[in-house]
Amino acid sequence: MEMSIREWRRADLTQIKRAWIDYCRSVARSDMRFRTNAEAAMMEWLSVRFRQSPGMGFIAEQDESVAGFLIARVDDWESSPPVIEPRRIGIIDALYVSEPFRRQGVGGRLIERAIQAMREADVTAVETIYDAWNEASIQVWNRAGFAPWMVHAYRML
Ligand SMILES: CC(C)(COP(=O)(O)OP(=O)(O)OC[C@H]1O[C@@H](n2cnc3c(N)ncnc32)[C@H](O)[C@@H]1OP(=O)(O)O)[C@@H](O)C(=O)NCCC(=O)NCCS
Repeated sequence: MEMSIREWRRADLTQIKRAWIDYCRSVARSDMRFRTNAEAAMMEWLSVRFRQSPGMGFIAEQDESVAGFLIARVDDWESSPPVIEPRRIGIIDALYVSEPFRRQGVGGRLIERAIQAMREADVTAVETIYDAWNEASIQVWNRAGFAPWMVHAYRML
């Protein structure tokens, strides 16, 4: 059956939570410790985001299975120090495709769907955060027309 992209539903949140927390564990730096209530905190965060407007979530679905998801919002961006006029931009907080569905264009389609929603929301730019050491992340964003701007750099002490 064909892959389709739809808006998220409350019933999707548990599955999103599981996948996203596993992903967070896989990319955490060696000096980061997970809170004991990390799962509950993730679920609460997702529930708030689900209720919030203008939050958005998209699900890639095949045969009623969740193949991937994207979570985004439209928000005010303010510079620190506050020297640039605040502006509304689109922010993509999460993009995830389950392993059996990778390299089939699902991530690209989710990004495309989010960008379409951002255009409809009349924002001038869209930003995201990704793992700078992961080739799949680098490439999927690059293919979708995203380029790094300011970069977080780390040195462990
Ligand atoms: C990153 C991720 C979302 C990509 O999803 P995907 O559905 O496999 O991506 P697509 O199939 O749309 O790939 C688009 C392009 O990205 C590149 N790409 C994707 N995976 C790649 C990999 N493992 N290695 C190299 N290039 C890759 C390719 O150029 C690909 O196009 P092609 O297959 O036509 O060559 C997926 O690997 C994932 O969920 N990873 C874990 C979570 C994550 O890293 N999220 C992003 C940061 S928030």
